[in-house]
This record gives sequence, structure tokens and C-alpha cells, in this order.
Amino acid sequence: MCGIVGYVGNRGSLDVLVGGLKRLEYRGYDSAGVAVIDPEGRLGTRKHAGKLGVLTDDLGATPLADGHTGIGHTRWATHGGPTDENAHPHLGDDGRLALIHNGIIENFGELKDELAAAGHTFSSETDSEVAALLVGDAYRATGDLTQAMLQVVNRLEGAFTLLAVHAEQPGVVVGARRNSPLVIGLGEGENFLGSDVAAFVAYTRRAMEIGQDQLVTIRPDSVEIVDFGGAPVDASTFEVDWDASAAEKGGWSSFMAKEISEEPEAVAKTIIGRVDDGLVRIPELDGLDEGFLSTIDRVVVIACGTAAYAGMVGKYAIEQWARVPVDVELAHEFRYREPVLGPNTLVVSISQSGETMDTLMAVKYARKEGAKTLSICNTQGATIPRESDAVVYTHAGPEVAVASTKAFVAQITAMYLFGIQLGQVRGTLDDARARELVRELQAVPDKLATVLATGDRIRELARWMADTQSVLFLGRHVGYPVALEGALKLKELAYIHAEGFAAGELKHGPIALIEPGQVVFVIVPSPRDTNSLHAKVVSNIQEIRARGARVIAIAEAGDAAVLPHADEVIRIPLASPFFEPLLAVVPLHIFGMELAAAKGLDVDQPRNLAKSVTVE
Ligand code: F6R
Repeated sequence: MCGIVGYVGNRGSLDVLVGGLKRLEYRGYDSAGVAVIDPEGRLGTRKHAGKLGVLTDDLGATPLADGHTGIGHTRWATHGGPTDENAHPHLGDDGRLALIHNGIIENFGELKDELAAAGHTFSSETDSEVAALLVGDAYRATGDLTQAMLQVVNRLEGAFTLLAVHAEQPGVVVGARRNSPLVIGLGEGENFLGSDVAAFVAYTRRAMEIGQDQLVTIRPDSVEIVDFGGAPVDASTFEVDWDASAAEKGGWSSFMAKEISEEPEAVAKTIIGRVDDGLVRIPELDGLDEGFLSTIDRVVVIACGTAAYAGMVGKYAIEQWARVPVDVELAHEFRYREPVLGPNTLVVSISQSGETMDTLMAVKYARKEGAKTLSICNTQGATIPRESDAVVYTHAGPEVAVASTKAFVAQITAMYLFGIQLGQVRGTLDDARARELVRELQAVPDKLATVLATGDRIRELARWMADTQSVLFLGRHVGYPVALEGALKLKELAYIHAEGFAAGELKHGPIALIEPGQVVFVIVPSPRDTNSLHAKVVSNIQEIRARGARVIAIAEAGDAAVLPHADEVIRIPLASPFFEPLLAVVPLHIFGMELAAAKGLDVDQPRNLAKSVTVE
């Protein structure tokens, strides 16, 4: 949601801003705009509803006087529809100040009344314009952009990232954040601000974190951070571990196609550096100390959407390997029901972006209640890791397509690693068993490459099903979250009604949905599994087939028992049951993408969705 870029230096700022916005497009947006200060000290702005192309076409047709200081924004409409007027930047101080905003200013109504009473008129319906007018007035009183922003941020309630420039202060961009993302990019004689590092990684990979309730002033040769009380703050720097080419499509038809092809690598990279002498050793868990790991009496996983399904897979594995109870909860439900947490509860958040507001708020709540928090996150410099006691980064690389794919398999991998280490520490896994699990996990990337090779057949199936109205997904045990993930992908990518069920639940209701021609994907457990789930799921297939369902089974290589009953069988390589989700989900990711493509839809930016959901 909302992409933000700020620049000061010696390059033409428009190029940097538009390039940065382009790389932030994946976040989802419905309008875009820029503001630059030209060498004569004039502030120029341009903004439009629609895609970035509308803005760049206009800039091409009627150029804006460029300079070396500017801000750029892609807006995801909240207050007021996606119109030119509501697009950012908004102006203050009689058009001499420009401001962009991400988030929601909750007390904007009363502030707007106050501004109206003081004689201000408004040219948009947004909460953001209120901030622009307030900072403009404060600038008039203080003559300094940093001081003006400081005064105003202390009056705002809600979540926000604000960036502002003033015509009288070329070479200065001021940013502030509360519960909304902002990262600093450090260059030589130039500095950047961005919603995430993708905004500036084409220019620098050196970045600096800015904490909650902090304000940053960037100039070409300096970066100063203060808290909202005005006291200086030390910030840590980090090196971005990917470059701009990683966030480009290469020769692929879509970012999603590229990202699905990177699923083996995402698993492999998440394992690297976390295995020592055949056992799991995640250095980042030192932030929690081994003593604590052995005293944990409960794990609570909080996450949303696909990340929550990764948590569900992790639950099965952790409970089995470490014998600790694990609850998985949707982050947006968590804090509103006053959950019971204790000093021996470990709250594990899972988030690709590290910025999901629902998850962030749940983490903050857990910490306030005295629980220890561990973040599993794919994005360096993001907020959730900074708000947690420890972080295990997944190394899936930048995920640009809105719907999560490679991050999902990396999240599951991180949960497996955590579960194995917990089992080692607690003595519930002996070294021999732990080493066996590690070896199996390390073998997954090669097996995933085999699964990717089934892509052509899945594409054919998807084309054949382009007019399908409804698809069901069934799974059991670790196959159940895979079924949920398959259904979510189909909803969000192909806009098809899809549901995932635990296969055992079928007879308790969902079987009523089965009618002739109903397509049902079934994730079949391994026949080598000792708990006889395989036979039960094969019976489920027979039940639905008898009622006319068209069954597509995802089954282990060599599983002959499904053949007579399924209309189609997609084979996955042999793996121990706990690792099957990594293999079984890939055909479903491909299917969702291919069905959407067959319907002519934009698989990278599905309607109504944003990559980073930074509002509750
Ligand atoms: C689905 C999808 C979403 C995200 C969810 C959480 O394909 O991408 O369901 O998984 O919005 O996002 P993160 O992981 O960034 O917290």
C-alpha cells in the first residue's frame, strides 16, 4: 500500500523518483504523483489518478522543471476515491510546501475543523491534506521544515509515514514515521527515503533503519534522526542483500512466474548458514537465548493470509518435533480477544513484508503482555523485526507479485528449522533424528525443481478450466493448510470461488457442494505415512467421485492407489510427510497463476489487493 520515495543529491530528482515509484508499484496503488524543487527554488508538482504511466505520459508531454530534491508517491485510496485531486502530494504554505503520506490519520476530522475555522479551504477529501496544511502553517511559524514536522507529528493520531519538502529549503527532505514503513538509503553526496529498500536499491545498497516515532532530515551529505521529542537518535545501518536486478522481471511473463521458478532457491537460501555439523543452529535465535527456548511452554503463531498457512504447517511440525503446544491465530483476531500469554509463551509472527499492520499490532500487544516475540520475515529494515525480540529472516529475495509464492515456501522452511532446533534444545529430537530431518530438508530444493517441470501439464489443465466457476481443495494433516493456500491463490489471482477444507470435514457439510463436474483438488498424504491418512483420503476421493466430482490428485510418485479414482494425477517426489507441503503447494501456485493468465488477468497485481497491507 502507498509507495513513498524521497531524494536529495545531485542527480535529476524526477528520474530517481519515477524509477523508485516504478519499483514500488508492486505494493499496489491507484494514483501517483511527484513534487520537485527546481534550481530557482520553485516547487512543482504533478499528480494523476491511474497507473504510473498516466503520470509519466503527462511529464513527457509537459515537462516539469527538474531539480535535485523531491518526493514521489503512489496512493492506495482510503479517504476519498482515486482521483487527481486526492492523489499526493498535497500542498501547504500557499503551495510552497508539498507533503506525501502513507497510513491513516485517525483524528483528521477534528484537525480539519480546526483548519477550516482558521480559514483554510481544501482541495481533496483526504486526511493527508490536513497534515500538509498543518505542516505548512507550522513552517510559517518556525521557518524550519524539521521543526514544523516535529510540531505536527505530535498532534497526529493513527499510523503514518510523512515526507515533506519546502521550496525555501532545497536540498532537504524531512520524513517521519509511526507504525508505517520508512527506510533510509545512504549514498555518496546523495540520500534517499523509501517505503522499502526497493525504492533506492538501484542507487545504493547501504540502508539505515528509522524507528517508530522518529523523524529524519536528509540532505545530500547528512542524515539526522530525532525522536518525536526532538532528541537525537542513533540508528543502525545494514547492507541490502539483493540488487536491483533481483526485483526485475528478467525474461519472465510475470513476476509471479519468475517467483514461482525461484521457489527451490528460496528454500535453499533460507537453510544456508543455519546448519552446523548436520544439526540446526539458527544464530539469530541467540536473541532469545537457549535457556528460554528450553522453558517455552507454548508457541503462538500470529500472521495473516498465506503467512498464516505457513504457520499452520509449522504447527504440525513443531508439535511433533519439539512437543510444545502451538496455536496459530490470525493476527487481526489476536489482540482483540485478550489472549492469555505468559512469560514462557513465545509469540512467533510470520510476515513476508514485515509491515502488515494487523501482525505488527499483534506483536506489540504480545510484548506488552510480557511474551517473548520472534519474527520470521523476508524484508530487511521492516518494522515487525524491529519490534520483536529476535528475527529469523527468510532469504526468498524480493517478492514483487502481490500474491505470495516463494516467500511462502521460505516461511515454511524457517518454521521447520525453528522446530528442529527447538526439538534439539528440548531433547525431544535426538541428534540422529535431527540430522535425518536436516538432510531431508536440504534435499527439498532439488525435488522442487522436479515439481516445477510439471508446469506444462498444469498450464494445460488451467487452460481447459478457464471457465470454471468454483474449485474445492481438500487436504489432511499438513496437506490441510496446503489446501487453504491453493484456494486462496485461486480466489485472489483468478477471482474464482474456491474453498479449502480438511478432508475429514467433508462429511460434516462440504460434501453437499459436490455435484457433477465440480473440480476438486486433493492433496493426498504419502502412502508410506504410518497414520493411515492415505487410505482415508483415497476413500474421500471415492466418495466425491461417486457424486460426480472431477478429481485432480496431487500424489507422491509411485502412489498407485489413487490412479483408478482420480481424473488427473500430478506427481510430487517422495519426501517425509512433514516436508510434503513444500512440494505439493508448487503445482497449486502454478495452477492459480495459469488459470488467471488463461482468463487474461494481471497475475502480478490482482484487483483490490496490495502487497503490503499497512492499514488495519
Ligand atoms: C496471499 C498473500 C497474503 C499475505 C498476507 C500477509 O497470496 O500474499 O495473504 O500472505 O497479506 O502478508 P505479509 O506476509 O507481508 O504479512
